[in-house]
Amino acid sequence: MTVTIVGSQLGDEGKGRVVDLYSDEADVVVRYQGGDNAGHTVCHSGEEYKLSLVPSGAIRGKVGVLGNGCVINPRTLFDELEMLRERGLEPDVRVAERAHVIMPFHRVLDGIEEDVKSEDDQEVGTTGRGIGPTYEDKAGRRGVRIGDLLDPEVLRERLEYVVPQKRAIADDVYDLDPDDLEAYPNAFDIDALFEEFREYGRRIEREDMAVNAGAFLSDAREAGKRLMLEGAQGTIIDIDHGNYPYVTSSNPTAGGATVGTGLSPGVIGDGEVIGIVKAYLTRVGSGPLPTELAGVEGDTPGYDGDSDPAEEELATYIREAGDEYGTVTGRPRRVGWLDLPMLRHSTRASGFTGLAVNHVDTLAGLDELKVADAYELDGEQLETMPATTEQWADCEPVYRTFDGWDDQDWDVIAEDGYEALPENARTYLEYVSDELDVPIYAIGVGPSREDTIVRERPY
Ligand code: IMP
Repeated sequence: MTVTIVGSQLGDEGKGRVVDLYSDEADVVVRYQGGDNAGHTVCHSGEEYKLSLVPSGAIRGKVGVLGNGCVINPRTLFDELEMLRERGLEPDVRVAERAHVIMPFHRVLDGIEEDVKSEDDQEVGTTGRGIGPTYEDKAGRRGVRIGDLLDPEVLRERLEYVVPQKRAIADDVYDLDPDDLEAYPNAFDIDALFEEFREYGRRIEREDMAVNAGAFLSDAREAGKRLMLEGAQGTIIDIDHGNYPYVTSSNPTAGGATVGTGLSPGVIGDGEVIGIVKAYLTRVGSGPLPTELAGVEGDTPGYDGDSDPAEEELATYIREAGDEYGTVTGRPRRVGWLDLPMLRHSTRASGFTGLAVNHVDTLAGLDELKVADAYELDGEQLETMPATTEQWADCEPVYRTFDGWDDQDWDVIAEDGYEALPENARTYLEYVSDELDVPIYAIGVGPSREDTIVRERPY
C-alpha cells in the first residue's frame, strides 16, 4: 500500500513531521521530486536533524529512496549521509538511476538568472540550489543522470556536450568569465567536473545505492512492503498547478508521485493521499499572497516596509511563535491567513483522502483569526484559485472570522486527543474539513512528532 504526502500550500506545511509520524509503519520512504531546496527538520530521540535531501524516514531506519523525479546534488547527498553517520545512524539511501544530477554550473546559472531578473523585480526568490536549471536540462535532453555517473564514457560524453553550452551562456549572455568564479572555481571545467562526479559515481556503486526506482518500488510493494511517498514543496509552487512563474520546477502534487517514482497512477490512487495544511500561510520568495499580513522586504512584491502596524504585529507574532524562518535559506517567511480557495484547488489537484493540519498551537493567543472563505475578483465571487497569477494577485479575500483560543498545555492535549482541544480550535478545524470534504487525520500542536493528535493511521 502507498501513502502519499502532499503539501497543500506553498511548502513548509510541516510535511516532514507527518512523514515522520506515519513512516513508523512504513518500510520504504520515497521522495518523488525536488532536490536540496527542501529543508526539513526532524526531531528524534531528543536530537534535531536538519536535512534537505535525504528522506526523513532514513533517520528511523527505513529504506530511503530518491526517485527519478528528483534532482540530486551528490555533494549535498554525501554531506548529509556523512553527518548522519557521524551522529551514529546508519542510513540506507538509494538513488534512482534515472534521477538527474545537479551540477555546480546549475547553481551558478540559478544565481545569475535571479540576479538578472531582480533588475526588473522579476526574481522568483529561488533557493539558489540549481533546481530550475537542472530541470531545464532534463527537459532539454542534455542533462546528466545518476546512471551516467556510473559509466565514465557516458559521463564524459554528456559533459563534453553540455559544458560548452553552459560556458557560452555564462560568457555570451551574462558576460561572466566562467573560469573566474570565486565561489565555484571549477563549475565550467569539463576535466574537473569529470573527476569529481566520476568519484561520486564510484561511491554510489561502492555503497550499492543506484536503483531502477520503478522496478525497485514495485517489487517492494508486491512483496507486501508499505511505501510512503514524500512530496517536497507544495501545490501552489507546483510548476503546473502553482502560481507560475513563482514556482519550483517540479510537480509536488500527487501526479508527481507517479511520474517521479515509476509507480502507476492506479497504485498511487489506490492508496491514501494526505494533504498537509498549515493552519495559516507562509511563503518563501516572491509572488502574490492575497491573505498576506504586512510583508517581507525583498520578497513581497512592491513592499517597501510601509504597512499597517496591527498587521505587522500579527505577522511578527505568528512568525516568531511558529519559528517561520527558512530551513534552507534562513530567510524570514511571509505570513498570511489560511486561504480556502487555495485549499480547494489543492484538494482537487491531488484528491486528498485525509488532511494533517499543523501549527494549531502557533495561533494560540490571538483574539480572533481570519480565513479567506472565497475571493472577490472583478465583482465576482470565486470559490477557488484563478489560473493566472495576475488574476490571483488581484483577488480580494472574502474573510470569515473565528474566535481565537488561548495557549494550552499542548503536551497534555496531544495525549488526551481531539476532544481536549479548545472548542474554538475544533470549530476552526471542522470548518476546514467540511469545506474540503476531507477528514482530518492528524493535528500538529507542537514541533515534535509527539505533539500530534493522531485521529487516523493510514496504513
Ligand atoms: P527553487 O525550488 O529553488 O527553484 O525555488 C523556486 C520557488 O520555490 C522559490 O519561491 C522558493 O522559495 C520556493 N521553494 C523551493 N523549495 C521550497 C521549500 O522547500 N519550501 C518553501 N518554498 C520553497
